[in-house]
Amino acid sequence: MIARNDPCWCGSGQKWKKCHYPRPPNAISLAKRYLDEFGIILKNSEQIEKIRIACQTTARILDALCRHAKAGITTLELDELSRKLHKEAGAIPAPLGYGQPPFPKTICTSLNEVICHGIPDKRPLEEGDFLNIDVSCIVDGYFGDSSRMVAIGKISEEKKHVMDVSSECLRRAIQVCKPERRIWEIGKEIEDYARSQGCSVVNQFVGHGTGLSFHEPPEVPHHYNDNEIPLAPGMIFTIEPMINSGVREGIIDSQDHWTVRTADGKPSAQWEHTILITERGHEILTAF
Ligand code: MF3
Ligand code: CO
Repeated sequence: MIARNDPCWCGSGQKWKKCHYPRPPNAISLAKRYLDEFGIILKNSEQIEKIRIACQTTARILDALCRHAKAGITTLELDELSRKLHKEAGAIPAPLGYGQPPFPKTICTSLNEVICHGIPDKRPLEEGDFLNIDVSCIVDGYFGDSSRMVAIGKISEEKKHVMDVSSECLRRAIQVCKPERRIWEIGKEIEDYARSQGCSVVNQFVGHGTGLSFHEPPEVPHHYNDNEIPLAPGMIFTIEPMINSGVREGIIDSQDHWTVRTADGKPSAQWEHTILITERGHEILTAF
């Protein structure tokens, strides 16, 4: 983690917070500094090309799954379809076997009051449900990560609102993404907007660097924070705001140790993209 009281790299003697942070002279030294100081791998163009392919595969699979999410279908059936689509694309589903206890399925399906990490099961989707489908896939050893919400038929005003707010949070956060903006600006953008709409921002889970591994530094909080790391070309990370219509707190299921539900049972929504920082701004690698 960044030691915020240390002087900036620029040699001005100023603290991080105050420093204007001049860009180091060349890309190699920038990459070395990010790795040494933060453990962040700035990706080179060969890596970016591979990660772009993994992200496009992720986006395609996610889109197909969303189109199949209809009343009557179970999330287990979506998982089966996901297995098939991964296979056809020559991709490996990153969630399967991930973590402790090992995640048992190939995608996360988070319904209604589930914030994230929902496990596909035999419950058929019903009119009035909404759910997040989260796809993370590995292609040729490189990672992509994206998720979206789907409404099943007509949903309540409350669900519609939190679904719209979370998508707008992601859109606004992506607008922040350009070199030399700071990581904290992403969380500020998200939490300012969510609060203005009467919603809360989950702070137990964060976005993350990705590409060469599933989860890499840096952490990308969606809530207010003071992480001063400047965004730099070659950074690849997810933004995946989880927005609640009620309280921000989530409770992890004591049986499966994965499913996270809102403490008050009110609906929660999330959208996620994998973002590349470019010289001029950003590229949404999982755009469809
Ligand atoms: N997008 C989620 C993440 O970044 C996907 C979780 S998959 C799981 O962690 F296996 F960890 F549940
Ligand atoms: Co993610």
